[in-house]
Amino acid sequence: MKLLVLGKDGQVGWELQRSLAPLGELVVLDREGDGSLCGDLACPDELAQTVRALRPDVIVNAAAHTAVDKAESEPQYARQLNALGVQVLAREAASLGALLVHYSTDYVFDGSGSTARTEADATGPLSVYGATKLEGEQLIQASGCRHLIFRTSWVYAARGGNFAKTMLRLAQERETLSVIDDQWGAPTGADLIADVTAHVIRQVLRQPQDAGLYHLVAGGETTWHAYASHVIGMARQLAPDRSLQVRQIQPVPTSAFPTPARRPHNSRLDTGRLQQVFGLRLPHWQAGVDRMLREIL
Ligand SMILES: NC(=O)c1ccc[n+]([C@@H]2O[C@H](COP(=O)([O-])OP(=O)(O)OC[C@H]3O[C@@H](n4cnc5c(N)ncnc54)[C@H](OP(=O)(O)O)[C@@H]3O)[C@@H](O)[C@H]2O)c1
Repeated sequence: MKLLVLGKDGQVGWELQRSLAPLGELVVLDREGDGSLCGDLACPDELAQTVRALRPDVIVNAAAHTAVDKAESEPQYARQLNALGVQVLAREAASLGALLVHYSTDYVFDGSGSTARTEADATGPLSVYGATKLEGEQLIQASGCRHLIFRTSWVYAARGGNFAKTMLRLAQERETLSVIDDQWGAPTGADLIADVTAHVIRQVLRQPQDAGLYHLVAGGETTWHAYASHVIGMARQLAPDRSLQVRQIQPVPTSAFPTPARRPHNSRLDTGRLQQVFGLRLPHWQAGVDRMLREIL
């Protein structure tokens, strides 16, 4: 079996290279491509040529325009990557009979209320990023290709920058931190997303009727404020020699940090469908964050 993975150096793309390796031959591309192969979502013709040349059984797209605030000032480019580039992959997958695996986001919802959204709930993106990711989903569904779309949220990885690392740095520099406490969600490790992706691909290749749209986030829920407090508390336990100056972690509303893109207050996603169809259990967010902290501290 041959799998084409796009988004080589992204958080999820990096972990996929580990989790998908036992499934078959991996061809992994970044935006720069590899010789005659193109992995750039902004180059539709070259991308289509690449898929036709490789003829993969599975295409896994972990590439995206993920700069949520920047997308507000470059909506055409965000749409090219998150919707039109994805449509090229979907069309090529449909004509090859390949399975397309793609990632989407809690930002397709408007964030109202306090209940966890299911896959059947109405969408209503608040930002260019959310709208372009939703269009990407819809273009995949309209293409008729066999597909898996995983909506996830608050992704972190040990590799590269992340929210926990930023909080740890600030906690070393400042006595008071202000952190948003009115956005709710589940921090989800790129490693968990990649592992679940591998399990689900195997099942869908045997049982194509299980393909479709799924919510994929870690268990439990929190706010950015409680997440930051947890990270700093764990750091004090795991690395007592690290001199953390912080004395107070102040809860503040979203309005305290104005940003170009509006973000949903309620990012809770209901993962019942994924757990039931694939017989999987999604561990609590703290388990993954604690593991990541043990790796980086
Ligand atoms: N991060 C989150 O909190 C979050 C939340 C919900 C959903 N998601 C979704 O989860 C998926 C994976 O996200 P992630 O956190 O792994 O993102 P990430 O770390 O930002 O990685 C995105 C990747 O896309 C690549 N890319 C950017 N422009 C490209 C282009 N024109 N052509 C090809 N590749 C391009 C980036 O490469 P460069 O490094 O060269 O720019 C990077 O490797 C995405 O679909 C995202 O929308 C993420």
